[in-house]
Amino acid sequence: MRILNSPVKAAGGNGNHKNLDTCSIVIFGASGDLTARKLIPALYHLFKEKQMPATFRIIGFARREKTDASWRQELRAALDQFSRTKPVDEKVWAAFAENIFYCLGDLTDDTAYAKLAAQLSAFGNPALRENLLFYLAISPSQFGEVVEQVHRSGLLKKDGPGWQRLVVEKPFGHDLASAHKLNQELTRFANESQVFRIDHYLGKETVQNILMFRFSNSIFEQLWNRNSVDHVQITVSEKIGVGERGGYYEEAGALRDMVQNHMLQVLSLIAMEPPVSLEAESVRDEKVKLLKSIRPLTPENVAKQIVRGQYFAGSVAGQMRPGYRQEIKVKPDSNVETFVALKLFIDNWRWSGVPFYLRTGKNLPMSASEARIQFRPTPNVLFAAQCGSHIDANAITLRLQPNEGISLHFNGKIPGPAIAVRPVRMHFSYDAEFGAYTPEAYERLLLEAIAGDATLFIRRDEVETAWRIADSIRTGWEGRALTNREFYAAGTWGPIAADDLLAQLGHEWHEPRVIK
Ligand code: BG6
Repeated sequence: MRILNSPVKAAGGNGNHKNLDTCSIVIFGASGDLTARKLIPALYHLFKEKQMPATFRIIGFARREKTDASWRQELRAALDQFSRTKPVDEKVWAAFAENIFYCLGDLTDDTAYAKLAAQLSAFGNPALRENLLFYLAISPSQFGEVVEQVHRSGLLKKDGPGWQRLVVEKPFGHDLASAHKLNQELTRFANESQVFRIDHYLGKETVQNILMFRFSNSIFEQLWNRNSVDHVQITVSEKIGVGERGGYYEEAGALRDMVQNHMLQVLSLIAMEPPVSLEAESVRDEKVKLLKSIRPLTPENVAKQIVRGQYFAGSVAGQMRPGYRQEIKVKPDSNVETFVALKLFIDNWRWSGVPFYLRTGKNLPMSASEARIQFRPTPNVLFAAQCGSHIDANAITLRLQPNEGISLHFNGKIPGPAIAVRPVRMHFSYDAEFGAYTPEAYERLLLEAIAGDATLFIRRDEVETAWRIADSIRTGWEGRALTNREFYAAGTWGPIAADDLLAQLGHEWHEPRVIK
């Protein structure tokens, strides 16, 4: 991972781009939503902030009839809608757009790849033909075909010349077996070091900051273990329902959509051991080790430790929402989970006995992602007589989004003659401290992929270990229809069973707070 002391300065253009190799970015599935919504806006901003290589090309490869000019026009129109900075800077766009090209072709047609190779050669610069970032914005079922075709056309090699990389999106399989198969397909003609699996959570500044926060501050890291931590809560709640994604969601559910990837990523960053360096392999070694230390989820453990839920009709922030079973493309008797709460134990020296609670769901009261480290309570001998038996324990909350920042919760004396204690908080806010520097996750991820740094990408064994965990949960659920206790009204914090899960050990969920 490349460390920049001042991200604000870097964003203003500190000449970093000069270090990046001349390359071409080939987007397969270029006419899809992802390209217009995320990839082109991200590349445009990297260009605007002078972080792109000095020389680069972008080629969109897709089946729809378009020309370079018509594709540029389409992308320009989409940028009005999806750019994080407005208005779009016409001069910057014009200079950026000169690097964008379109290659009309079918993914299964050999001649289309020959055309792509010819187009790359026609740029007239060997580096634009040899250094290639292939972005597979296509269905995973097409990965194998594309990888074989680019290899056959001489564009993808395991050992150069130049470098070639494959960037792939989630969903990366739907279970361990399918992920394993995808991995085999991707690495038939590429080394694992050439494969960059995206989890967009790792592109978020606040998620990256977890490691900085833990390992650059001695006062917190000393407490980051079972001696001081009572439990950990990670919440990724979403106000949106499944909306128009019912078809996809029926196949995925919250476990595959959020837990297997984003939630386990956040968990591993929160709980992993310090890596020996910030090199990709060191960081990822520690993440895999952490995932492997999660206590196995046998069917008996799943029954005790995992709660699933599905929303029925209810009101979210004053807006009526249909139940999940009434959503478009959802089966009227679907048992797919829109909420999951987990109690996990990490059986290693640092965390033995400390519960890690994770929850995520759709149609919850607010959209907020945060990790709360709840410390052990003090022995309440001093203030019990005056303040009652309960005094809040200290906690640190890492607010991943929105209100990005960190809060420290502690107790303070209420001013006045009486001895009275009240919880108070200290807040750090990114906005207040660094100004509104909010690059999209894709900007960072694309930049790292171009630079060839895989730290923020998921390694093969990591994705497979995460699937092993998700699969063991699914096995525990197999053949069991949802019971009444597993439904929740849209606009509430999930089924009652999720509260009971914490109550077993005397804990309760903390709702993310809106920081003003
Ligand atoms: C995606 C899931 O990976 O992440 C979506 O497929 C979810 O269902 C989204 O809404 C959440 O991402 P973010 O960045 O909005 O928290």
